[in-house]
Amino acid sequence: MTHADLLQTIPALNGRYDIYGNIHKGLRRAQCLLLARLGSNDFEDVTTTDKLLGDLRRLLSMAAAHVKHEDTEIHAALRSRGISTDGVDEQHDDHRAAFEALEARIADVETAAAARRTEAGRALYLAFAAYIADDFAHMHEEETVIGPVLWQTFSDAELHAMEMRIVSALPPEENMAFTRMMLPAMNPEQRTMMVGGMLQGMPREVFAAVVEFAIRPSLSEAEFQALRSSLSLAA
Ligand SMILES: [Fe+2]
Repeated sequence: MTHADLLQTIPALNGRYDIYGNIHKGLRRAQCLLLARLGSNDFEDVTTTDKLLGDLRRLLSMAAAHVKHEDTEIHAALRSRGISTDGVDEQHDDHRAAFEALEARIADVETAAAARRTEAGRALYLAFAAYIADDFAHMHEEETVIGPVLWQTFSDAELHAMEMRIVSALPPEENMAFTRMMLPAMNPEQRTMMVGGMLQGMPREVFAAVVEFAIRPSLSEAEFQALRSSLSLAA
């Protein structure tokens, strides 16, 4: 599929369950922000570089976890109904190779002698840009090609159950990290739906911790207040 082909058909959601929507919005936003930081970073500044590389490693490990979630829940479910996932499986294998290559570039920045650090940073910036270009095309294919296959094959309740299995298998720390990644990338209606589901499904004190450590810090005050009033939350 060429890049021009990718723009041709964007199937309408028509009220169906959008299993890819929120997480892909979060990944796109986080990856764009990190690319911009890699481009503007002074790689001779050890403090900002350490922080940036730590954030990049965290993002890549979340991207790797996401690929695995799709393998175990979505691709396995499609195969169980006799639908081949070879194309997207191969793209996930390419992602895993990219994660290794990017880790090597990160380590190269860390160990480069001072005179080579800016050059190693430029190489990491270009490699990360190439990776996300590939990932954006991949996520687009998932949302425009695999998404409609999922709608034909599974009910919304089945798709929702797949997502819930992914979410409930996450350790609390990872769950918070994904919430922080996704929420600021989502529109107000999507935030209300997701956080409303958490409010319904979590014990009160767990929900309060998610508000404090994931929801509030990831939104502006105005966005948080809008979300709060849409859910009629107490302060
Ligand atoms: Fe994927």
